[in-house]
Amino acid sequence: MYVRPAAAAAAAFLGFTLTLLGGTAASAATGPSVPSSPSGSGPGAPAGTAGPAGTAGPAGAPGLLGPVVYAHRGASAYAPENTLAAIDLARRLGFDWVENDVQRTKDGELVVVHDDTLARTTDVEQAFPDRKPWRVKDFTAAEIATLDAGSWFGEEFAGERVPTLRQYLDRVDHNRQRLLLETKKPELYPGVEKQTLQVLDDAGWLDADHVQRRLVVQSFSADSVRIVHDLRPDLVTAFLGTPTVADLPKYARFTDRINPWHTTISADWVAAVHDLRGAHGKAMEVDTWIVDDAATARKVQGMGVDGIITNAPDVVRHAVLGAFARQGRSAK
Ligand code: G3P
Ligand code: CA
Repeated sequence: MYVRPAAAAAAAFLGFTLTLLGGTAASAATGPSVPSSPSGSGPGAPAGTAGPAGTAGPAGAPGLLGPVVYAHRGASAYAPENTLAAIDLARRLGFDWVENDVQRTKDGELVVVHDDTLARTTDVEQAFPDRKPWRVKDFTAAEIATLDAGSWFGEEFAGERVPTLRQYLDRVDHNRQRLLLETKKPELYPGVEKQTLQVLDDAGWLDADHVQRRLVVQSFSADSVRIVHDLRPDLVTAFLGTPTVADLPKYARFTDRINPWHTTISADWVAAVHDLRGAHGKAMEVDTWIVDDAATARKVQGMGVDGIITNAPDVVRHAVLGAFARQGRSAK
């Protein structure tokens, strides 16, 4: 099993950290235990930068207490995915890393939405009944801004919007969170990498603090990852997929991480990725997705992954810390 050098020292703090943590495996079904926001409905105080359960660590490094936990599309088991409410909830749960998906509107605005149509996650079918199949790229930013992106998930989220990338970046920054940004279906949006970098720059996200500690760009498209790397070689990037071990060295030339679906990996494959040095000369890392239950979280932790991308970050945090505690006890 892959064990980070800091793990043994960190185990001494577990008794303290575990008492601070809420949530159980059952909370994925019943909803999380959410500390109230100090500012009421707003995002509240910044997420900790040295929090437990792998919520900390610079953009190129794993957390102290096991895999880094990424809130996939925000805390999307409990709030509508890719909305500001979902990242605010992730923060209130204590998670600083959030993941999103970036696409482009008809008039060239970058927006945060997963599907290439708006049908599943907004009320677009009611608002624009004659515009089937309701593709993101067929609607203007002004039209998308009128859509309700929350009611489909729960009435308490009525009025949530599809955020522009700029709005999203500003909220993540306000929350002092960190971003795993995905260029989604970049083949539909020529030049989206350069445009995304421009928006990041305009929002102040390409300074040393963000680049070194708070931003990773990923894609299922190797071409898209390579373009980002070529344009901004200082950025940490990740390829979404599971290349064969024989092919891994090709990816190591332009990316730092390989982020696979959890069903496709083994401990040997994870070790093969770790054995390579990536685009920045450091051991390559593995952040796996989508893991929403405790048993699978412990399984991939046992394989040595560096990060777990999840809709239910509280469930995963509880699971990996529990595994960590058991490991600490058995070492005594
Ligand atoms: O971050 C990994 C994950 O987002 C990849 O799948 O379809 O949810 O974007 P998807
Ligand atoms: Ca994604």
